[in-house]
Amino acid sequence: MSKYLLISLTLIITFWGCSENQKNDNFLNKDTHSYANFNDVRIKHLKLDLNVDFSEKTLDGKVDISIENYTKTKQLILDSKDLTIHKVLLEDSVETLFSLGEKSDVFGQPLIIEVEPSTKVVSVYYTTSPNAEALQWLSPEQTLGKVHPFLFSQSQAILARSWVPCQDGPGVKFTYEATIKTDPNLIALMSAENGTTKNENGVYNFKMNQPISSYLLALTVGDLAFASIGRNSGVYAEPAMLEKSVWELNSMQSMIDSAEQLYGPYAWERYDVVILPPSFPFGGMENPRLTFATPTIIAGDRSLVALIAHELAHSWSGNLVTNETWNDFWLNEGFTVYFEQRIMEKIFGKSYEEMLTKLGMGELEETLEHLINEGNSEDTHLYLDLDGRNPDDGLTDVAYEKGRFFLQKLESVVGRERFDFFLKNYFEENKFKPMNTGRFIANLNEHLLTPEEEQAVDINAWVYGPGLPDNALVPYSEELERVESSIAQYNNNQIKADAIDISGYTTHHWLYFLRGLKNLDSIKMHELDQNFNFTQTGNSEIACDWFKHCIDHQYEEAFPALNDFLIRVGRRKFLTPLYTRLAKSPQNKAWAKEVYQTARNGYHSVSYNTIDEVLK
Ligand code: BES
Ligand code: ZN
Repeated sequence: MSKYLLISLTLIITFWGCSENQKNDNFLNKDTHSYANFNDVRIKHLKLDLNVDFSEKTLDGKVDISIENYTKTKQLILDSKDLTIHKVLLEDSVETLFSLGEKSDVFGQPLIIEVEPSTKVVSVYYTTSPNAEALQWLSPEQTLGKVHPFLFSQSQAILARSWVPCQDGPGVKFTYEATIKTDPNLIALMSAENGTTKNENGVYNFKMNQPISSYLLALTVGDLAFASIGRNSGVYAEPAMLEKSVWELNSMQSMIDSAEQLYGPYAWERYDVVILPPSFPFGGMENPRLTFATPTIIAGDRSLVALIAHELAHSWSGNLVTNETWNDFWLNEGFTVYFEQRIMEKIFGKSYEEMLTKLGMGELEETLEHLINEGNSEDTHLYLDLDGRNPDDGLTDVAYEKGRFFLQKLESVVGRERFDFFLKNYFEENKFKPMNTGRFIANLNEHLLTPEEEQAVDINAWVYGPGLPDNALVPYSEELERVESSIAQYNNNQIKADAIDISGYTTHHWLYFLRGLKNLDSIKMHELDQNFNFTQTGNSEIACDWFKHCIDHQYEEAFPALNDFLIRVGRRKFLTPLYTRLAKSPQNKAWAKEVYQTARNGYHSVSYNTIDEVLK
């Protein structure tokens, strides 16, 4: 009797151990921004078959979803938003029941599908809404060529669900393949293996053999041409923009090579960039194998290429080792800014990197001040609590810049050599896996820091505390010191604008200069514009900082240019501060609303959702 008891106990313990093990390997923390039951059943592979309909502004077709059912659950719950679901089949043959749950403006609707414990493939036949939030459908007028329409997607943070029913949380990773049918005058590109030329029949096939998170699903369709830059890099752009883009991005291959030297092999084979129309709501988006980028980085002087270093760095921090939930966003962005800075230092030298870091600190200070004034000090923590909120609202510069300065602090305490060794191993050991803040800290304590070093860093203050910890490094830039002394003299009216020594000024000097100006009045605004031609600058970063002053000091000579800028450029980072400043006076707010009436039609949902609130 007791023998049997022993055997069955052993069996129970063994099985329990196994299932616990399985659970430990796959278990993901709760993701409050997803309805998916990914701890019961997990997406492993997607096979998309979609038709791109520019006249209806829809994607229409099906997705075959391969699943692994861990708990033999009878329900597969997916995220969806504004999708019309026509039918759902199991093993692509038997129709099954499905329902859509209650609808939320932010999170969409759970798509609940009845499955068998043995089900391997679930096929969802669906059509996207013309208002699908991830997708922007551009008229030919919104492109450079003015002849063909254009489409691009932006899935991060939780918009993939508006064009693909899926488990839309960053912790879930799957491989994918796709067939996209479109107008044969256009080429389709995805965050996957891409061709370089148009197809006579307009049918494009894609494969992504490495597992990725849903926020990295991406599609663009337009009149795009390709040019090679280096061994495994190249650029796609509208034909009229291609040559300029190749010139601007000539450092891309050396960025890839430098990144590999720093943190190990590039895992995605090719690295290409597609230059999108100016309504793209971000500077860049790290879609695997194919970064999506704003044309505002094509400045004509190669001065804004740090953005490419940033998106490339995500090929490690983010795309390989991925924030498990949006609360861990700093693991994506803080690492990436740090990594970007290291790439820039390697290629363009220490003094260039110092300028970027010093500018970054300025941006961080501004964001911290703003959040704390708003009484929102929780959002100044690295580890966020975005429960119940649109993650988009809580993803600020804090993750980027406080994250960067935290890693810089770690580097300074243990030394560069040890830190690089640690990071290289960290990427290698955690590749293609989600990472969360707690596990990262455990990793630090296990593999990097001695107890004394841990004390010197004060991880808790950095990760779970507000603002910038006292032990942060103070960035120094000799180049920007030079600017600093000019600004001081100018701010105190000791010199006129024409006496400022601007020799050797690059975009970064100018940005620092503009950000440091104080005590401006209309005479000084005129004087500055006359001397430095800011209103007419072709550099969007400089333009944005200049327009901020123009609004604050009612420098109306610049308003026609500002009007054009707001209509042409849809990058939210520029739009938000400009509209916010305009909204401060009733007169400017009325003007802004009028501009917005035209401009809004040209913006992606990410931008107009934000600006709608600003101008409310
Ligand atoms: N992944 C981000 C863009 C993003 C973040 C989209 C959160 C949606 C939600 C991308 O890597 C990024 O950070 N882009 C920056 C540029 C970078 C140089 C700081 C941008 O678009 O300005
Ligand atoms: Zn980023």
